[in-house]
Amino acid sequence: MRATRQRLLGLLADGHFHSGQALGAALGVSRGAIWKQVSALGALGVDVFRVPGRGYRLARPLELLDRDRILAGLGNPARKRLAELFLLDSVNSTNTFLRERDHDGVAACIAEHQQAGRGRRGRDWISPFGANLYLSLDWPFASLPPDFAALGLAAGVAARRALVDIGCGNIQLKWPNDIYANGAKLGGILLEMRGEPPGPCRVIAGIGINVAMPEAAARDVDQPWTDLSRLIEAPSRNALAARLLDRWIAAFDAFERDGFAGFRAEWRDADLLAGCEVEVADGRQCLSGRARGVAADGALELETATGLQRVVAGDASLRRAES
Ligand code: BTN
Repeated sequence: MRATRQRLLGLLADGHFHSGQALGAALGVSRGAIWKQVSALGALGVDVFRVPGRGYRLARPLELLDRDRILAGLGNPARKRLAELFLLDSVNSTNTFLRERDHDGVAACIAEHQQAGRGRRGRDWISPFGANLYLSLDWPFASLPPDFAALGLAAGVAARRALVDIGCGNIQLKWPNDIYANGAKLGGILLEMRGEPPGPCRVIAGIGINVAMPEAAARDVDQPWTDLSRLIEAPSRNALAARLLDRWIAAFDAFERDGFAGFRAEWRDADLLAGCEVEVADGRQCLSGRARGVAADGALELETATGLQRVVAGDASLRRAES
């Protein structure tokens, strides 16, 4: 069934009309079976138009994930470091998939669709099929690096470098782990850990980047958002996946060696809320003050009525204060 769906998507990917009869003949199934598969695609978040007399057409052309293209887009160091790459059609969450398996070395997982994509602070991450990028990296650390709290910030800097690689400049970072463009959220990062510090542990870093968010799926997104199709011409998910993997692997290596030092200046350059009046909540307290950027260990520095305060990432959320 899944193989038929994959082949159907391959035929529809060009964005042109295909009659039910032609699709059925190409796949060796009935027109009714095609209709069922198209309905199943709709449930995954793929917009398919059906026009009587003409057939089926995707709302927009689709670029399916392609292992060869992704691997070909990696530099040698990343290719050598990556022990396993899982490319999945549909999964609960790419983070959960990696977390539940043991790997020898560095593993990555990219999926066309997540049934239960997870964001920070228990939120859902809307993950329609074939529209955006959902990628996770599983990184084994011999022991937890001293700047560990800043790892997500380094991952944000590396993601920004990957976006610049594919022609998307002007990306900003919102502490701790959000990726912004034109004042709206383009992506986010979720870090999870396995193991018992200070012993060996694994970090599972997941990133979601909106590439071409379908209108229907966007109705469930509960904050201002943007996607790459609004920022650059014809973004390619395979090119983005390759650049992201390459940049993340290099960044995790550098972080393991030298900590946050090599990322801090770039993070401060990209800081969306530097100098703004903000409110930070971490579940225990809510602080207001003027954001003064990130410290050497990744903590957010806040100028408050009672002096300079530091907030560590954890589960904190930050927003611009209402004026
Ligand atoms: C956030 O901004 O709240 C973080 C979003 C992280 C989403 C990514 S998509 C790939 C990986 N798998 C998940 O379930 N979540 C992360």
